[in-house]
Amino acid sequence: MQFGHFDDEAREYVITTPHTPYPWINYLGAQDFFGLVSHTGGGYSFYRDAKLRRLTRYRYNNVPVDDGGRYFSINDGGDVWSPGYRPYKTELDSFETRHGMGYTRITGARNGLEASVLLFVPVDVNAEVHRVEVTNTSDAPKSFSLFSFLEFNLWNAEDDQTNYQRNLSIGEVEVVDGAIYHKTEYRERRDHYAVYGVNAPIAGFDTDRDTYLGFGNGFDEAAVPHAGKAGNSIASGWYPIASHQLEVELAPGESKAFTFVLGYLENPRDDKWEAPGVIRKDGARELLARFATDEQTLEEFARLNAYWDGLLGSYTVESGHEKLDRMVNIWNQYQCMVTYNMSRSASFFETGMGRGMGFRDSSQDLLGFVHLVPERARERIIDIASTQFEDGSAYHQYQPLTKRGNHTLGSGFNDDPLWLILGVAAYVKETGDFAILDEQVPFDNDESKAESLMEHLKRSFDHPLNNTGPHGLPLIGRADWNDCLNLNCFSTEPGESFQTTGNRTGGVAESVFIAGMFAAIGPEYVALARRRGDDAEADRAQAAIDEMKAAVTEHGWDGEWFLRAYDYFGNKVGTHETQDGQIWIEPQGYCIMGGIGVEDGKAVKALDSVRERLNTPHGIVLLNPAYTEYHVELGEVTSYPPGYKENAGIFCHNNPWVIIAETVVGRAEHAWEYWKQIAPAYREEQSEVHRLEPYVYAQMIAGKDAVRHGEAKNSWLTGTASWNFVTVSQYLLGVRPDYDGLVVDPCIGAEVSEFTVRRVVRGATYVITVTNSGGKGASLVVDGTPVEGSLVPYAEPGAVVEVVATV
Ligand code: GLC
Ligand code: GLC
Repeated sequence: MQFGHFDDEAREYVITTPHTPYPWINYLGAQDFFGLVSHTGGGYSFYRDAKLRRLTRYRYNNVPVDDGGRYFSINDGGDVWSPGYRPYKTELDSFETRHGMGYTRITGARNGLEASVLLFVPVDVNAEVHRVEVTNTSDAPKSFSLFSFLEFNLWNAEDDQTNYQRNLSIGEVEVVDGAIYHKTEYRERRDHYAVYGVNAPIAGFDTDRDTYLGFGNGFDEAAVPHAGKAGNSIASGWYPIASHQLEVELAPGESKAFTFVLGYLENPRDDKWEAPGVIRKDGARELLARFATDEQTLEEFARLNAYWDGLLGSYTVESGHEKLDRMVNIWNQYQCMVTYNMSRSASFFETGMGRGMGFRDSSQDLLGFVHLVPERARERIIDIASTQFEDGSAYHQYQPLTKRGNHTLGSGFNDDPLWLILGVAAYVKETGDFAILDEQVPFDNDESKAESLMEHLKRSFDHPLNNTGPHGLPLIGRADWNDCLNLNCFSTEPGESFQTTGNRTGGVAESVFIAGMFAAIGPEYVALARRRGDDAEADRAQAAIDEMKAAVTEHGWDGEWFLRAYDYFGNKVGTHETQDGQIWIEPQGYCIMGGIGVEDGKAVKALDSVRERLNTPHGIVLLNPAYTEYHVELGEVTSYPPGYKENAGIFCHNNPWVIIAETVVGRAEHAWEYWKQIAPAYREEQSEVHRLEPYVYAQMIAGKDAVRHGEAKNSWLTGTASWNFVTVSQYLLGVRPDYDGLVVDPCIGAEVSEFTVRRVVRGATYVITVTNSGGKGASLVVDGTPVEGSLVPYAEPGAVVEVVATV
């Protein structure tokens, strides 16, 4: 069952009913100002930090769900409705929401009146624009009232939900020339304010929530829109809101458009007043003047669309398979951008108050983002590396505003260091900017401890080597990629964080997965050292990798698959010898990506085991059998009910590792089948099972042991986005930048018999036409000349290179 459809030409997903199984959302903004918006208009806005600069209020965990948003209400002769259906839930004659690249258009119609709300954040503007177009589709004149509404958050989203004894007394606003200014705490230590204005004369306004709603009412019962008359209220404490009333008259067939602008402004601390107690407003006036006419608004919207044309132009495919094309050309890249911007902060599953930027998460997010805006990737790399410690370990998270490491969570996640190497390698391959390796980058944000980025990578590489256990495998620390495999934690107190509790330093618990990472990512370090002419270092590193591979072969193999780990007592994890958790997905993918077992048949054997024991029609589960009891020696993974999250859920983040591993052993059909199982566009037809947005990946789909097998949770902000883009673009379609050229090495099911990839990299364009029979090892003809191997050397900027590949 579907609740909408894709419109690929417009790069939109079109939702045709308000009654989706969950709010299906979109993101506005790409730089500093962001909004989340559901298909019925719910959501909120913030400036840079979803916790500390929250502009509007939203209620997580509320009943009804998705409460709080930008609500436009129409009172047409006493009939009150909203084009987004919510909050009134008045039946509409038509409803449609189009989620596009950085914008959403919500259109509803009732009784001969159509209202369409276009929401977007213009490029490089710290504001959210709400363009409301109303059309009289009847043959009689219409006159009606239009009300805007949003509710201000008192800036700090967490405090806003907890500190009522203070907060209910501090709300302050100003209303000047029809614009509503939110200035809570501006009188003391804040130098920023918000404004909500409109480019038309208003008939009234409200800023006090109780006046607007009527005390005790829900948004659906809002008193002012029902009365058809604003209260002109000025908030004093309690709950500041912003609502305008516009009186609109439309002849038959006539349309009018209004632009509402929600802006965030900062003033210089020593010059923030216009008169005593009155905010200095020149910034807001300039902002509103940019949207004074509808032409201006539409120009800004066109600029946003052009920005996305540019971004999405560096990797496109035409295959004749529309689901594949739309994932690659539009939605997967879009999700990579959003994930990169948000990290794991604000979604409908992340409250924007919790996590900072993850060292491992952000390093992996780079993989799917670096081709979009390489300059921003460069900055991010420096930020991430600056939170590394001198021994190569790292703060697990850092705060985006201060860029400082997060002390509460600390360090000790022993996979972290290696991800930095992978992110930097992806950046250098994409750009050829080897100079970044010479950048001086602090350790622990201390400038006096700055060393070159290359030195950081060395410390990253050496960290697992300096921290090995009894089998010569890397110690796991608090956890590796799997945050919930806590082998040193031993928590028995309810509510304790598995990520910060305990961490006994037995020096025994080892991770086969980190060993696999070392084998797969280590060679990037070798390649960089070699290119810098440091052969001795490259040789040393290669020898260490070979030794690690040997340790995995000797101590990391269970007979039919790779072991997962050794626990605190030196017992095996992920072995047929235990009752539950016999086989885990992560080492099967990563060890084979590192080339382990490819020659001696272990790799194929492990992948066959994955297929037999972990695969389902909804994706590959993380482990099997699911744990049915809590194991204190394994930690959080066993805390989840069977089939959910890390306890045998389908973690869409690591399915790609198995898919890439299948391409390593050349099994194109398996790779293609596994990719399609979790790709949202391919799951669209079972939206009633999947339940979340069919245009973006979710972190998890419930596994086969779960009651609700096939149901997704935690959409949007997940490393799944970048790993799936890497997988489909670089391994299935097989076009990936390397240091000296573009590798063309497709490995995709025969179903995709012909395709053309257009890749712009380092200023040149490569048009790669592939004829595919479903194997591996393409023969290449570059500009008419056959070449050996799979590398197409980089051409001069501006060049167009024609590649013909036959598999
Ligand atoms: C979450 C975390 C990520 C971790 C994964 C597996 O997605 O953000 O860092 O690797 O869970 O536990
Ligand atoms: C929880 C989640 C896991 C996440 C971790 C860190 O353990 O289950 O997926 O990675 O928190 O925030």
